[in-house]
Amino acid sequence: MGTEDEDMVPCAPELRYEALNSTIGAVEAPVTTLLHAQTVEMMEAGKDVLSLAVGAPDWDPPSTVMDAARKALDDSKTGYTSSQGALPLRQAIADYVMRRHGVQVDPKQNVMVSNGSKQCLFQLLSALAPGTAARRGVAMPDEIIVPTPAWPSFLTMPRLVGLKVTRLETSPEAGFLVTPELLRAVATPKTRAIILCNPGNPTGTRYSKAQLEALAGALNEPALQHIVVIADEIYDRLGVTGSEPCTSLFALPLLRGRVVMLNGVSKAFAMCGFRIGFMVAPADVVRMCGKIQTDVTSCASSIG
Ligand SMILES: Cc1ncc(COP(=O)(O)O)c(C=O)c1O
Repeated sequence: MGTEDEDMVPCAPELRYEALNSTIGAVEAPVTTLLHAQTVEMMEAGKDVLSLAVGAPDWDPPSTVMDAARKALDDSKTGYTSSQGALPLRQAIADYVMRRHGVQVDPKQNVMVSNGSKQCLFQLLSALAPGTAARRGVAMPDEIIVPTPAWPSFLTMPRLVGLKVTRLETSPEAGFLVTPELLRAVATPKTRAIILCNPGNPTGTRYSKAQLEALAGALNEPALQHIVVIADEIYDRLGVTGSEPCTSLFALPLLRGRVVMLNGVSKAFAMCGFRIGFMVAPADVVRMCGKIQTDVTSCASSIG
């Protein structure tokens, strides 16, 4: 006898879970997302639940954001935007990167807006995966270094696109920091990229400029120069009052041309549901990720 769901909608053998994409089938869903789905269901059923499963601010977005969203609806800004993101928004992001990090980027070539930085990350990992080159026998680096403890999606998402995850264990005694020594110990010629989340989720670790420069120095050593740096800086505006602004890996001259910055408005402006995230990257990366985005979602939310 089947489950209740199977009785409602029968499942042909060729549509059974085991018959679907085995790469994806082998990856367990991030536990935080499952927990979040459960708590949302409980909330919808009227239960008083406090969910610590996802990193969502419990305050409202600034009133300017709410007013602008209302105005966007009143002005019927409800169509598709340009696939890479509305140009005024990309320009605003480029201006922001200049103001905050002192780096000039071209809004047309270096900036892409997606439905959350999560979509940026997925598209970036897809772009970094070896693709058919591996099947043709061309050796391509296919390992992603993920410092742990890690946000669960850093461990699952690479595997969804066929990349392998190399865990870099950090310790509470050392403040959960990745040091040049730890990095050298796990990096190999097969390493495609490292994900550095600063400030870190779930550890809360904030790197000083000097600590980031030390890492950049190590990544610039001949044996590590092939490694792409994925800088997830989604929490860079959340910190203890008075703390120094976060340095961006994207701004470090030693790593110029090798860093992809991921950021967005979910955490900084409490706009998680607006689904607006962005990538700032070398032009070819934006071009390839743009190609994926055009086919996957056409564009990000026009109201966000
Ligand atoms: C480290 C990290 N990166 C990215 C995200 C996703 O953010 P977004 O809402 O921009 O997709 C989260 C959300 O929890 C996160 O914790």
